[in-house]
Amino acid sequence: MNMAAEDQKRAAAGAAVAEVADGMVVGLGTGSTAAFAIEALGRRVRDGLAITAVATSERTAAAAAAAGIRVIDMGEVAALDLAIDGVDEIDPWCHAIKGAGGAMLREKVIAAAARRMVAIADASKPVEQLGARPVPLEVLPLARAFVARAIAELGGAAVLRTDAAGAPIATDGGNPILDASFGPIEDAAALAAALSAVPGILGHGLFVSEIDAVYVAGTSGVECRTR
Ligand code: A5P
Repeated sequence: MNMAAEDQKRAAAGAAVAEVADGMVVGLGTGSTAAFAIEALGRRVRDGLAITAVATSERTAAAAAAAGIRVIDMGEVAALDLAIDGVDEIDPWCHAIKGAGGAMLREKVIAAAARRMVAIADASKPVEQLGARPVPLEVLPLARAFVARAIAELGGAAVLRTDAAGAPIATDGGNPILDASFGPIEDAAALAAALSAVPGILGHGLFVSEIDAVYVAGTSGVECRTR
């Protein structure tokens, strides 16, 4: 069997959604792979599965509601059973870079609140070492230049994320995003701790402890890799 990337995303998402059971509170990720999980979960809900969900972004909340999934306010949820989300890169230890879609802060909160988090990925996402892609940062607007300087002091280079017209892209929280490139990341946990310590960084897309397992779909099917 030779699966195209879209089919791989659908297959990985379907495998993760098979973990969902009646009564669970489920965290729903953001992005094209998570969209397949929302579709699959919606089908199961229409077949009688009783769950509630929290969303990592406004677009995910809208997609989940359209799929018939009951979405509740994350502000009222202290812990959830399972989070399912995509990744931009994931290494063999389930360290990952997330946030190409700009939802990394909400994704981090929901991942940390989840008793179990599973990532879903097509074959382009696993890497031996993180860092080919930038680490997205959601920053307090007034801290933008300061955070860029702090990133340079950590050996990286931060670029403000803009749209095609050059206007800054804001997160659902209304904050700017800096994409911080570090090159190959030798110690993801140390970098994550350093980023977390910079005042003005509200959240970053380096996930070093949250992901328990990843469903990776390749040309020959779906494999579950654990940390
Ligand atoms: C959203 O902010 C991101 O963290 C996504 O989960 C990540 O970029 C994966 O997106 P795709 O599934 O579209 O590749």
